[in-house]
Amino acid sequence: MREIVNVLFVCLGNICRSPMAEAVLRSKIAKRRLTESIKVDSAGTGDWHIGKVPHEGTRRILDQKGISYADMTARLVSSSDFDSFQYIICMDNSNAENVRKLPGGDKAELLFFMDLLPDEELREVPDPYFTGNFEQVYDLIDAGCDVLLDKIIQEKL
Ligand code: 4NP
Repeated sequence: MREIVNVLFVCLGNICRSPMAEAVLRSKIAKRRLTESIKVDSAGTGDWHIGKVPHEGTRRILDQKGISYADMTARLVSSSDFDSFQYIICMDNSNAENVRKLPGGDKAELLFFMDLLPDEELREVPDPYFTGNFEQVYDLIDAGCDVLLDKIIQEKL
């Protein structure tokens, strides 16, 4: 039997970037018929939006692309995630710093989303909550998730 791989995207509020990445990766996984092998979730380091659906800007672009975000609500990242997820992917450096401050966070294996796209000048996924540019973030996330999916297949499946 194949191993089940668990992927967690982390951002600040868990309403813009990480739920967008969750929805985009899940859709790519479904297209490759790997839904039973790779599970995806997202979480935030800030607690302001717990229980809320993704931000309107994220919902709008996912609607435009025909990508589902059904049943997704914001939650906080926690130390127990370190045991459950083989891939924990932070959208920016401050997300990673905040995860590191959790109990056990100093030993957690973290990835930076923009490390999936080494040719991009940007080294952090810009926060569209502040920039308003959800298209730019979608393009980065779409490209990065293609690389990530190939990486997971190569490393784990
Ligand atoms: P996200 O964006 O981290 O991509 O979900 C943000 C959402 C909300 C806030 C900040 C960033 N906020 O300050 O409420």
